[in-house]
Amino acid sequence: MKKEKNYWFDLENKVVVITGGAGLLGLEHGEAINHCGGVAIIADLDLKAAENVAHKIGGKSVGYHLDVTNQESIDNLLKDLVNKYGKVDSLINNAAINPVVSDKGLDKTRFEDVTLLNLQKELDVNLLGAVLCSKTFGTHFAKNGSGTIVNISSELAILGPDQRLYKQKGLKDNEQPVKPVGYSIAKAGLIGLTKYLATYWPEQGVRANAICPGGVEVNQSQEFLDEITKRIPMARMAKPHEYQALVAFLCSQASSYLTGAVISADGGRSVW
Ligand SMILES: NC(=O)c1ccc[n+]([C@@H]2O[C@H](COP(=O)([O-])OP(=O)(O)OC[C@H]3O[C@@H](n4cnc5c(N)ncnc54)[C@H](O)[C@@H]3O)[C@@H](O)[C@H]2O)c1
Repeated sequence: MKKEKNYWFDLENKVVVITGGAGLLGLEHGEAINHCGGVAIIADLDLKAAENVAHKIGGKSVGYHLDVTNQESIDNLLKDLVNKYGKVDSLINNAAINPVVSDKGLDKTRFEDVTLLNLQKELDVNLLGAVLCSKTFGTHFAKNGSGTIVNISSELAILGPDQRLYKQKGLKDNEQPVKPVGYSIAKAGLIGLTKYLATYWPEQGVRANAICPGGVEVNQSQEFLDEITKRIPMARMAKPHEYQALVAFLCSQASSYLTGAVISADGGRSVW
């Protein structure tokens, strides 16, 4: 079979919705889609930020408002995109409340302080929003006979957080900052969602896969970097662009026989 240039990763005129697209990795996912010829739809709670990111990506990229916890907002986005482009081809469930444990720690995130309200807020965005978006866009994909869903999970879906990484000198044990439980259970839930979706519409041409990324190096303290890199075989955190090819792979026909796959991209951290 003779292959055209870019055959594997060709996303020419494919419309790809990136939820939470205005954040750190949303820009990277959008650049990947744009690079492969696709239309990156940067959909975020923060419309202004989404428009800025779309502008930065350039090409056919556009910013839209989306609240993944609101069915009406998801329906409106699908309607607007179908009116404009005729169809949507891929969904990247990327939106999250991503709790970064800073030097000051996190307020009220210790397990002893968990409340139904806080947990619900986190699960609404990080897990249930992905379920609603998958239902809405997946139904559209199934009707069209094709579509790909990529769930951005985390290494913390398959590993327990190493809370020693966040320890602060001078604080009592019951005051130490921790990575909250909501993140772990939401990200593990995305793996369940991925497998559920993989067996739900396979005959309608809908594929669903998950990526479990490791942490990205941004502005962490040297002390934190020294500690975390000891736990990663490749001895470094990820650079923001290092998930781009994987996202393009999972959205494109290059991954045509992959569904229900959970891919760790963590510098080997989950191997140890
Ligand atoms: N950055 C990392 O180190 C890392 C590592 C592993 C996994 N991840 C995962 O990658 C994804 C992207 O992470 P990031 O670092 O870019 O996060 P980020 O915080 O920079 O971006 C998240 C975006 O989601 C948006 N958002 C929040 N609530 C929303 C809602 N209700 N509807 C629509 N959008 C909403 C925010 O406005 C923000 O732009 C997340 O799912 C995160 O858990 C990130």
